[in-house]
Amino acid sequence: MSTHFYTASSLDGFIATPDHSLEWLFAHDFDLEGPMAYPSFIEGIGALVMGASTYDWLLRNQQEWEYTQPTWVFTHRELPVLEGADVRFARGSVREVHDEIAASAGDRDVWVMGGGDLVGQFAEAGLLDEFWVQFAPVTLGEGRPLLPRHLELELIDTARNRDFVCARYRVRVGS
Ligand SMILES: NC(=O)c1ccc[n+]([C@@H]2O[C@H](COP(=O)([O-])OP(=O)(O)OC[C@H]3O[C@@H](n4cnc5c(N)ncnc54)[C@H](OP(=O)(O)O)[C@@H]3O)[C@@H](O)[C@H]2O)c1
Repeated sequence: MSTHFYTASSLDGFIATPDHSLEWLFAHDFDLEGPMAYPSFIEGIGALVMGASTYDWLLRNQQEWEYTQPTWVFTHRELPVLEGADVRFARGSVREVHDEIAASAGDRDVWVMGGGDLVGQFAEAGLLDEFWVQFAPVTLGEGRPLLPRHLELELIDTARNRDFVCARYRVRVGS
């Protein structure tokens, strides 16, 4: 089991605008059968982890819950759950919940969907193995950060997918 951050980003390191819009991202096509595409990535995922804003975005933008995997939402709030969704709420230290998250993933991997600060909490605790990012050909100037921490990474793969530059990194132990 390993833990991955897989996300799209603006070229200047933001994953959403300050008001949580992703319109800048959906304005660009991604080849779903091309390199580092989502369908093949999600096949290997047994559990999802996200922060409250990302979960809130999904609630506002999905008619139906699309994930079959257990989904862990870090929040201090009481948030609704869509019918049929296996959503489990957590708060505080990611280290304390990680064993439960890993167990819920079975023999597959964990996807920390975002945001960047929550991913940083996993990285700081030594619990992040890989970082996959697809850079869209756009700068935002401001927004929700990709990963607001110092992390040392080893580049293990690169690809072009239409207008996106895709990179896959291994997180260096001790970074
Ligand atoms: N570009 C992409 O591919 C992509 C991917 C993923 C997400 N996104 C977007 O990026 C944005 C990310 O938003 P964000 O930066 O605000 O990050 P976020 O992680 O989605 O939400 C942050 C919130 O999560 C809660 N939280 C985080 N760590 C916690 C902890 N240890 N314990 C308890 N609660 C914790 C806190 O909320 P409370 O204290 O209020 O509960 C915190 O304010 C969203 O708009 C999302 O839709 C984009």
